[in-house]
Amino acid sequence: MKLKSVLLAMSVALSFNAYAQAPIVIKFSHVVATDTPKGQAAERFKQLAEKATNGRVKVEIYPNSQLYKDKEELEALQLGAVQMLAPSLAKFGPLGVKEFEAFDLPYIFPSKTALYNVTEGEIGKGLMKKLEPKGITGLAFWDNGFKVMSANKPLHTPADFKGLKMRIQSSKVLDAQMRALGANPQVLAFSEVYQALQTGVVDGTENPPSNMYTQKMHEVQKYVTVSNHGYLGYAVIVNKKFWDGLPADIRTALDKAMKEATTFEKAIAQRDNDMALEAIKKAGKTTIYTLSVKEQADWRKALLPVQKDMEGRIGKDLISAINKEAAK
Ligand code: LMR
Repeated sequence: MKLKSVLLAMSVALSFNAYAQAPIVIKFSHVVATDTPKGQAAERFKQLAEKATNGRVKVEIYPNSQLYKDKEELEALQLGAVQMLAPSLAKFGPLGVKEFEAFDLPYIFPSKTALYNVTEGEIGKGLMKKLEPKGITGLAFWDNGFKVMSANKPLHTPADFKGLKMRIQSSKVLDAQMRALGANPQVLAFSEVYQALQTGVVDGTENPPSNMYTQKMHEVQKYVTVSNHGYLGYAVIVNKKFWDGLPADIRTALDKAMKEATTFEKAIAQRDNDMALEAIKKAGKTTIYTLSVKEQADWRKALLPVQKDMEGRIGKDLISAINKEAAK
């Protein structure tokens, strides 16, 4: 009897020990390739987080929609099937946080400095707060870059878009943007874009060059226009219950790792996009066109009204606050 209780106590202690030593696993799912700014920053976060916590945290990265596509990954995060994501800011509408679509408004950011004034200031903080009632905590804004447009015909003027089926992310602002150009927008998950372009399900799309190149979209798009008409960036988010339940010292270490990964991400984003545009040019399958000053003015004339049209969805005050911050 005595021996039995000693053995029982030993086995409880052993299993408790095993439990205490099992690492905390963070499943980080994303939809882009590893050699994009987001993909590389996710890897950097993994390295920093695992080192800073002496292996008490293990970060498992699932790139390229390996686990989930766009909409599914947000649902998986809320359910706790994954702990961390970095969806593009254009993908928060279906979650009920439409204000993030402000980042999709044409020409809202004249520069990266203007963008950082927003993401790193009170507006950025306020936007992240809106995620909390959805069971999500926002940790950082990650950068990608300004978008180019592509199709199998030259896109020099708004009239060139007439009737084209253009793939967009699930943002109503992007829908309005494409309609303002006379195109027919179609929402598709990122993982489906290459094939949709290849088979003619859609005629064209928009993205920063790094996404276009790493998904080989340039192989099935003959023309790319450097238009800088809009921005693409990310929010790194975690399941709130998971995050709040972490031991405080672990959370502090992860916060620090995230800050460092974010600095790294911002430093490489522009360079990666410049390199990707160069690589698309070199691949020789796509003609790259930069808008003339007159054409830029025509695009602005066609697209700027979208800012006003979307006031009802995004909020007039938020749009003017962003414009004010961006003009500083
Ligand atoms: C897209 O779906 O077009 C991109 O935003 C994907 C991404 O996460 O960069």
